[in-house]
Amino acid sequence: MSDDVANKVRQALGTIEVPGGLMLADFAGLSDIIVTKSAIAFAISVSPGMEKAFAPARTAAEAAVTAIAEGRKVMVSLTGDKPPVQSAPQSAGRRPGPPPKTPVPGIRHIVAVGAGKGGVGKSTCAVNIALGLARRGLNVGLLDADLYGPSLPKMLGIEGQPAIRDDKIFKPFEVYGIKAMSIGPMLTESQAVVWRGPMATSALRQLLRETDWGELDVLVVDLPPGTGDIQISLVQQVDLAGAVVVSTPQDMSLIDARKAIDMFRRTNVPVLGIVENMSYFIAPDTGTRYDIFGHGGARTAAEALDIPFLGEVPLVMSIRESGDAGRPAVAVSGDGPEAAAFIAIADRLAERLGVVSKPR
Ligand SMILES: Nc1ncnc2c1ncn2[C@@H]1O[C@H](COP(=O)(O)OP(=O)(O)O)[C@@H](O)[C@H]1O
Ligand SMILES: [Mg+2]
Repeated sequence: MSDDVANKVRQALGTIEVPGGLMLADFAGLSDIIVTKSAIAFAISVSPGMEKAFAPARTAAEAAVTAIAEGRKVMVSLTGDKPPVQSAPQSAGRRPGPPPKTPVPGIRHIVAVGAGKGGVGKSTCAVNIALGLARRGLNVGLLDADLYGPSLPKMLGIEGQPAIRDDKIFKPFEVYGIKAMSIGPMLTESQAVVWRGPMATSALRQLLRETDWGELDVLVVDLPPGTGDIQISLVQQVDLAGAVVVSTPQDMSLIDARKAIDMFRRTNVPVLGIVENMSYFIAPDTGTRYDIFGHGGARTAAEALDIPFLGEVPLVMSIRESGDAGRPAVAVSGDGPEAAAFIAIADRLAERLGVVSKPR
């Protein structure tokens, strides 16, 4: 079915002329066309400096594809292929560079949750920290920026498609008292996620800016692992209040965490703190605590790097089980010990951000 739609999109793009006289459908800079249940995305890559000349074609493409999109949201990105190298004198011949950062209206603070690698519990922390902030009476949003492996729908138990308003703005999911947005529900089960750089940038921009977040005290952004395209694109698009870096206590993970910290520092994003996840193990039967992972590694690293330590989260089976079942710890066992760790971290974060943290 989505092949059908992709063909229609190609046909539509066959009617749009680009500079140079070709039709967009035949233009080499046209990417694959991604058709999901509720979105159509493709990218137009042009030589640096040609963005302006192609802008009308992009607008026309958007309109033509919207007409056959059967209600799907159309995401077309237009980018100069390679960023110009920074060598010529600043004053001579102004070069395009990334567009200026503009705040997202209504959002006071944007906080990214990152880590040098996957599987350390970024998404788990992002979800539960967001819920912890909401418990303090703050208006909180959660954006799943892991376009390659969105996991928030599962963790929050989100089902179905996001609603799209007539003006093509997404309505975020409202779940456990926060607003959440993810590309996940728009993908079919088996859909290979083949975002290329420019498409990912554009999808991220639209999830961020074309979602009706309303007034938020904090938008928490769950990043993909590592220090790739999406991280860079986020920090280029918007000013972040800062980043939270999640690490497990093991050395290897901390080496990765340092990479993430370096990236944020290089891009002038304040690192608000480190969280040590899977810090120690609590036996489910006896409740006994075991420090089997070299507990404390992240705190030591935080001190060495002069970064605040936000807290530690134990490895507890219930965190995994509830997360995998769409019932995050802070939402379902708000007063339990596993939730307490996240809530304490959220409180410290709120304090660092200077947002009023109202008691429940
Ligand atoms: N503190 C924890 N205790 C038990 N399981 C955890 C904990 N933190 C994360 N997990 C589990 O580990 C897996 C990876 O976590 P996830 O948050 O998806 O990591 P990431 O986003 O860094 O890839 C998930 O199955 C999650 O439920
Ligand atoms: Mg994740």
